[in-house]
Amino acid sequence: MKAIILSGGKGTRLRPLTYTGAKQLVPVANKPILWYGIESIVAAGITEIGIIISPETGEEVKTKTGDGDRFGAKITYIRQDEPLGLAHAVKVAQPFLGDSDFVMYLGDNLVQSQLDLFLDKFNSQHLDALTLLCEVENPSSFGVARVDENGKVLELIEKPKNPPSNLALVGVYLFSPEIHHAIASIKPSPRGELEITDAIQHLIDKQKSVASFKLSGWWLDTGKKDDLLAANQIILDDSVESAIEGEVDDQSKLSGRVYIGSGSIVHNSMIRGPVMIGKNCKIENCFIGPYSSIADNTTLIDIDIEHSVVLQGAILEGISDRIVDSLIGERASLKTAPQRPKALRFMIGDDSKIELT
Ligand code: DAU
Repeated sequence: MKAIILSGGKGTRLRPLTYTGAKQLVPVANKPILWYGIESIVAAGITEIGIIISPETGEEVKTKTGDGDRFGAKITYIRQDEPLGLAHAVKVAQPFLGDSDFVMYLGDNLVQSQLDLFLDKFNSQHLDALTLLCEVENPSSFGVARVDENGKVLELIEKPKNPPSNLALVGVYLFSPEIHHAIASIKPSPRGELEITDAIQHLIDKQKSVASFKLSGWWLDTGKKDDLLAANQIILDDSVESAIEGEVDDQSKLSGRVYIGSGSIVHNSMIRGPVMIGKNCKIENCFIGPYSSIADNTTLIDIDIEHSVVLQGAILEGISDRIVDSLIGERASLKTAPQRPKALRFMIGDDSKIELT
């Protein structure tokens, strides 16, 4: 069994953050989304992993993620020149996959891992495709499945206007090599992509064995800011363990589960967990409230912040209102200027969103 993780595509939904970087590398609890997928694949015993990359963000994904050593895996990078669809990505990966069964994992999805159960079902029932499904409130935004009472998949439709059920396709699939024949038989969809849903539908039409598995844990599609903050909250709730690897002075007060990375200095501040602070950060006269992830090399001075994600190298200083539900990009700077006349001065990237009171 091998695995491919799709980390190409365009990433328009998290703009402006994804103008400069891959959406799969946006961190949740200070770890890139993509890495959660790698870890869960390795935890299920699969160590041969191909990562699909795009020409635009591929180098960054490669440099950050490496050859797989840190995960106990062997990672092969596979370039997809254009984002022509999920099934197209499988086509590009075919030389890597050979005639092996494989897991396909969408690199922007966070799924509470049940991969081992998923694999057991696929292997014991000798399936050609196993899809992971989750009940959602807005099925029209996803691939949607109609299944019989035994979980046999009867029909799959990509982003239907009139969804036949509320069961969305989660971005994790298992396939036998039969899928390659199906992909060779389908045509691009109206949005111009080779859809994996169409390829699976082709397997169903050819009476191949396609089953589903209903996810009982959480699943987060991290495409938008609020999804990302929700993902951050769940992962912090699940995974932060208290540890202070940096320095915290006597005037500071920490409560709840707080992780502080090495080289970080906390002075005269109150931090209420779950909170994750990366390496080499400077935190001075701040309140950092629950569900905040502060990445490496950030500076926070005279700031009240909670339920927010601050990316690497950002500088936040002297804001009198509390910052909440916010996503602050890499190296962004948010300060009050001492000059008169009193005024707001901005240099804001394309597609940024700012709400002032
Ligand atoms: O998130 C689950 C949904 O993912 C499913 O319910 C849908 O059935 C499935 O088609 C997919 O829909 P999206 O429209 O959300 O897919 P997106 O374009 O966001 O791509 C998913 C991942 O695959 C993302 O990490 C980018 C990568 N990708 C995408 C395309 C189109 C590639 O690597 N190459 C591609 O050509």
